[in-house]
Amino acid sequence: MKTKDEILLEIAQKYSTPTYVYDLAVVRERAKELQTEIGQYPQTEFLYAIKANYNPHLVKEIINLGFGIDAVSQEEVKLGLACGATPDKIMFTGNNMTDDEMVNVHDLGVLLNIGSLSRLEKYGSTYPGSKVSLRFNPNIGIASHESNITGGPDSKFGISFKDVRQALALAQKYNLQIVGIHQHIGSGWLRQREPMLALDVILEIAEQIPGLEFVDVGGGFGVPYSPDQTRLELHELGEKIKNRVTEFCEKYGREIKLRFEPGRYVVAESGYLLTRVNTLKESISRKTIVGTDTGMNHLVRVAMYGSYHPIRNISHPRGFEKEYDITGNICECADFFARDRLLPEVIEGDVLSINNAGAYGFAMASNYQFRALPMEVMIEGEDVRVIRKRESFDDLLSNYNF
Ligand SMILES: Cc1ncc(COP(=O)(O)O)c(C=O)c1O
Repeated sequence: MKTKDEILLEIAQKYSTPTYVYDLAVVRERAKELQTEIGQYPQTEFLYAIKANYNPHLVKEIINLGFGIDAVSQEEVKLGLACGATPDKIMFTGNNMTDDEMVNVHDLGVLLNIGSLSRLEKYGSTYPGSKVSLRFNPNIGIASHESNITGGPDSKFGISFKDVRQALALAQKYNLQIVGIHQHIGSGWLRQREPMLALDVILEIAEQIPGLEFVDVGGGFGVPYSPDQTRLELHELGEKIKNRVTEFCEKYGREIKLRFEPGRYVVAESGYLLTRVNTLKESISRKTIVGTDTGMNHLVRVAMYGSYHPIRNISHPRGFEKEYDITGNICECADFFARDRLLPEVIEGDVLSINNAGAYGFAMASNYQFRALPMEVMIEGEDVRVIRKRESFDDLLSNYNF
């Protein structure tokens, strides 16, 4: 049997670099872990936050594992439908939603999750008597990076927890049926405290709304990227959530569904960005700079959030370790993947694997500096499938009527 490194190296040799590779076994394992550990409350549903990685081949697999879709654009809604999700298994949480998005998504039979009183008024007057879900900001936020905190006093997301009464009054004015309430406090958290506090707040709001079918507590489950981070204790967290929600249902007088919207947790660790080293040089301060054939245009998390990604030299994994700055090929100072990173000795031509790149990697990639997007490949054991072709120069020109 081939090792993972051997499979990755063969992919780099056969299809060239930069290439994203996703290991389906990891996706299945992480999805299952969420379903069994976080889904301990019997009426739990998972919607995959498709924004994390929207490759249709992966999305179809995740839908087949029993996930619905959390969509934040009408295009994501349509992609979810195209990948086989039924409208009742999709929710649209559009931020600063346009009238067009509201109408188009409603016409597709997909539930809208509305995050402002202004949009609720427009929705109610356009579709009186309809079902709706409301996104609230519980005034609690947590994330791996400040920019990913989506709850709290200055957040643009959700209806303030203080405006529950106004929201209910608007719903009543237009005879809207509030079937669900929602919150998403941030992305990439590895602690239980804030999510549990936020759960308390959303359940306090739920107590004030009769007839709810579900409470959706969003996604955000973090994965350890750097060696000093510890894995979330999913079983313990799932148990606490089950107990809290069961207690709520007894008080509420009937059972409701509990929804989660994980994106990163399902796909992050399945992904590898393969890149080839083409330049080695010394900086004035005598740092060794490794130059690669990809960059922040293909994986922006390091430049944007200061994120850590594990990096491996899969061509020479057993060399003597040295310290390197690993950089991309984009003309920006922020274009690097690691500083002062210990790696087995690198020589030009080596293939590096940037790990944990399955979430918000390709999905946030761009054509900055008119560079083509990488190829995407899926592996299942030793089976290798290209799931998105490498962009060509003609692809780059194709929208310009050139
Ligand atoms: C509304 C909503 N739900 C779910 C998610 C998924 O977050 P994560 O990928 O961290 O699980 C996001 C991410 O930003 C979001 O905005």
